[in-house]
Amino acid sequence: MAQSNVATHDRVIIFDTTLRDGEQSAGAGLTPDEKLRIARQLQKLGVDVIEAGFAASSPGDFEAVQQIAREIKGPIICSLARAVPGDIDAAWKAIKDAERPRIHVFLSSSEIHMAHQMRKGAEDIMGMAVDAVKRAKSLCDDVEFSPMDATRTEPGFLYRILEATIDAGATTVNIPDTVGYSNPEEFGALIKGVFDNVPNIDKATVSVHCHNDLGLAAANSLAAVENGARQVEGCINGLGERAGNASLEEVMMALETRYDHYGVKSGVNTREIGPSSRLVADLFGFAIQPNKAIVGQNAFRHGSGIHQDAYLKERTTFEIMEPESVGWRGEAIVMGKLSGRAGLRSRLGDLGYELNDRELADLFPRYKVLADQKREVTDFDLQSLMSEQHRFADTDRQYRFEGLKVECGDMVTPVATVTVGLPDGKSKTVTAEGTGPVDAVCKAVDEIVGESCNLTEFAVASVTDGIDAIGEVTIRVEDADGHIYAGRGGDTDIIVASAKAYINAINRMGVLSPSKNQITATE
Ligand code: KIV
Ligand code: ZN
Repeated sequence: MAQSNVATHDRVIIFDTTLRDGEQSAGAGLTPDEKLRIARQLQKLGVDVIEAGFAASSPGDFEAVQQIAREIKGPIICSLARAVPGDIDAAWKAIKDAERPRIHVFLSSSEIHMAHQMRKGAEDIMGMAVDAVKRAKSLCDDVEFSPMDATRTEPGFLYRILEATIDAGATTVNIPDTVGYSNPEEFGALIKGVFDNVPNIDKATVSVHCHNDLGLAAANSLAAVENGARQVEGCINGLGERAGNASLEEVMMALETRYDHYGVKSGVNTREIGPSSRLVADLFGFAIQPNKAIVGQNAFRHGSGIHQDAYLKERTTFEIMEPESVGWRGEAIVMGKLSGRAGLRSRLGDLGYELNDRELADLFPRYKVLADQKREVTDFDLQSLMSEQHRFADTDRQYRFEGLKVECGDMVTPVATVTVGLPDGKSKTVTAEGTGPVDAVCKAVDEIVGESCNLTEFAVASVTDGIDAIGEVTIRVEDADGHIYAGRGGDTDIIVASAKAYINAINRMGVLSPSKNQITATE
C-alpha cells in the first residue's frame, strides 16, 4: 500500500479538482488526452493532490484517471467515489498504479440532502459513511471523506460523522460548502468547531472545499486556513459546478502575498500559475474575464494616468504582486518574420513548450504564415499558435480544416465553400448558403461530415490588441441528445477561426460521444 498523506501543519496542501469538479462546469467536457495534458501542467505547478476524476462516472473518466495515475509522479492522484462499493472499487482500480493514490469518498450529511436526495435517516447515513471509509481503507492507505453539504449539516451530526469516519480510517476529512452558502466568519467558526468538538481530529488533515455561489469561495477557504484547515480544494480559474469552486490561483497568491497574515504557505511554483490558467481556459473553452484576479488580462495593467504615473515612479505604489511571480509575460514583442527555427524554438522553450525536431518542422510553416500576416508576433500569439498546433496534432484520423472561401455582406446571400480533410486521408469540398458567413461555413461542414449540430454558443476574443490580432473563436454545439461539446480555433481571419473551431467541436464530439462517456445514475 502507498504511504498515507500526512498533515504538515506549517504548510497548506493544495488539492486541485479542476479535472473533477471543474469538469462538472456546465458545457465542459475533456478528452482523456486533454485531461492528461492538464495533469502534466498541474504537476509542474506543484499542486499536492490532483483529483483526476470520478472513475465510476464513465468509461472515459476511468481511462483518464488511470492514465494520469500511471504517468504523473509527485502529486497524490485521487479519484472521487460515492459511498457505495462499486464506486470505491472502480476508484481503486483506476488509481492503484499511482505512486501515491487516494480514494475520496463523499456522502450527503445535511437534513435537506438526507431527506430529499438520499431519502435516508441520519443513522443509515452514518453506517454508510463508516462502511464506505472502511472499504476504501482496506484498499488504500490514503482516504479522504467529505460529508456533502457540511455547512448546512447540523453541527452535532457533522462532528459525530467526522469522528466515526476518522476512526474508520479517513486520513483527511473535508468540509465542503457545497452550495456556497457560508461566509468567512461563519465558516471559520465551523472549522474551529470541528477542531474543538471532534476528539480524534488530530489524526486527520482538515480540508475545505468551497463553492462560489455568493462569490465568497476563496475568502471562506482562507478563513478556514486561519482556523487550522491545512488542505484547500479548488480549481484553476475558479471552474466548477454552478458558479464554480475557490480559484486556486487566488488562494495560493493570498497565502504567498499575505504570509505576514496567514503564517503558512503552499508549496507551489507560483510562476506556473499563468501557463496553468491559460491551458485550462484553452482546453475547457472558457475564456478568462479580463479583470479576473491574478490571471485576467487586466490584472497587471494600469489604466488611469495617476496610477500609471505613480507606478512608473515606484511599482509597489499600485502593485502588490510582481507580475512575473505568477508567470505573467505581458505582451513582449519577441519575434518577426525574419526569425528562424532556432529563435522560435528558444522562445517557445522560454514559454514552457519543449518541441522536438518533427514538431518544430510541423509548426514552422504556420509560424511563417502568421509572421507574414502580423508585423509583430507576441508571446500571446505564440501561445495561440501552440494551442492550434495541439488541436491540429490531436486530429489524426479525424476531420481537418483545409481551406475556405466566403462571399458575404448585406447585398448578397452569404455563401461558403469549405474544404475538409477526411479521416481516410481524402478531402471533400462543399458549397452552402447560410444566414451569415459563419452559418454558411457550418452548413458546409455539416454536409461534409454528415452531422447536423445546433450551435449554442459562439464567442470571439482577440489574443492581442491591434487590427492584425489573432481571433480565437470558441464554439459550443449540441447534438441531437442534448450533449454539449466545445471547440476552439484561432486565426487572423475570424471566419477561418470559426471553421476550425466548428470542426474541432465535431472531432471532440466523436471522442466524447455518450457511448464512450455514459454517466452512471446518481443516488
Ligand atoms: O461540492 C461538494 O460537496 C463536492 C464533494 C464531492 C466534495 O464536490
Ligand atoms: Zn464541489
